[in-house]
Amino acid sequence: MKFRWGIIGCGFVSELFASCLLKLENAELVAVASLTPGKAEHFCKKFGNPTAYDSYQKLVEDDKVDIVYIGTTHNFHYEHTLLGLNHDKHVLCEKPISLNAGLTEKMVSRAREKNLFLMEGVWTRFLPATLKLQEIIGQGVIGEVHVVNADFSIIRPFNPNHRLYNLELGGGALLDLGIYPLTFAQLVFDDYPQTAETTAVIGESCVDEMSSYLLEFTGGKTALLSASCRSASPHLGIITGSKGYITVPDFYHPQEFTVHHTDYTDLNWEPKDQKLYKYPYDHLGYGHEVTEVMRCIREGLVESPLMPWSVSLAMMRLMDSFRNQWGIIYPDE
Ligand SMILES: NC(=O)c1ccc[n+]([C@@H]2O[C@H](COP(=O)([O-])OP(=O)(O)OC[C@H]3O[C@@H](n4cnc5c(N)ncnc54)[C@H](OP(=O)(O)O)[C@@H]3O)[C@@H](O)[C@H]2O)c1
Repeated sequence: MKFRWGIIGCGFVSELFASCLLKLENAELVAVASLTPGKAEHFCKKFGNPTAYDSYQKLVEDDKVDIVYIGTTHNFHYEHTLLGLNHDKHVLCEKPISLNAGLTEKMVSRAREKNLFLMEGVWTRFLPATLKLQEIIGQGVIGEVHVVNADFSIIRPFNPNHRLYNLELGGGALLDLGIYPLTFAQLVFDDYPQTAETTAVIGESCVDEMSSYLLEFTGGKTALLSASCRSASPHLGIITGSKGYITVPDFYHPQEFTVHHTDYTDLNWEPKDQKLYKYPYDHLGYGHEVTEVMRCIREGLVESPLMPWSVSLAMMRLMDSFRNQWGIIYPDE
């Protein structure tokens, strides 16, 4: 069975997503929509000439479209997801699923009422390296996990119109970048924090340009996480356990990780042995989430066990609580 996809918003991530769709056997890109004049036509020429629409409404009214991918900025995710669901389309919505937990609850309710599939596209959760990492942690390969460290920082020069810095577009490091270290810690502990202490540097456009999160999980397990659009970092995740540690390069889209076994009791600080696990992906990494969406729909599921609605809701509640600490409110909330 082949699934026919439509894309709402023809920006940066939609281009990556479309090039991935074209490589998958069971997926077909049949339509794209952009409100920017000429952008949908230009997009179509690059990606196999699907139908180009100058309105999102026309795309969701197209009977040829089975699943809609929402590639617009955070602030529009709620509105565009509802547009898709209300026109009987299944929806894959980019992360973060919306601006807050309240809006996410409404999206989930509508998907439930309409018996349609809805998922937040946190691609990290579907990658083979991530799944293997969770498996071996569960097997106790580094004993009991105590601490997770992860930072997702990138340097983006200040531009109040760029979505990262623009409050109206849901800007800020937390919702765009911080969601990944938070996801990483949630996946490793398979739990949600009981307490959270955070700090944020709020810039001149009133969004968090840098933010840090110290989370405590059940049993005193902790995560030290941060995100920034003002600094460079190696994007290395480190998981510390009672028998060793795991390093995860590019933890938000890993293709490998290394397990280091240690024996610090003999005062030798070098790892005793190391094992590299490699899980390279193709299709730019997005193919795994797309495949999961199509598998679920084929099997009559309305949510994915790898990214259930409860996880999206819990992560949004967590990020809401951080923003409450900082006093950041988006105009569309
Ligand atoms: N999973 C990933 O790896 C990944 C990577 C990057 C981004 N993302 C997510 O994808 C989403 C889009 O990010 P992006 O970098 O692709 O964004 P973008 O290129 O800046 O914008 C995407 C689209 O949103 C609409 N848009 C942008 N600014 C707007 C404005 N001021 N007013 C009205 N519409 C506007 C435009 O739609 P039209 O084409 O209709 O004009 C634009 O093409 C974000 O939520 C982000 O978190 C995910």
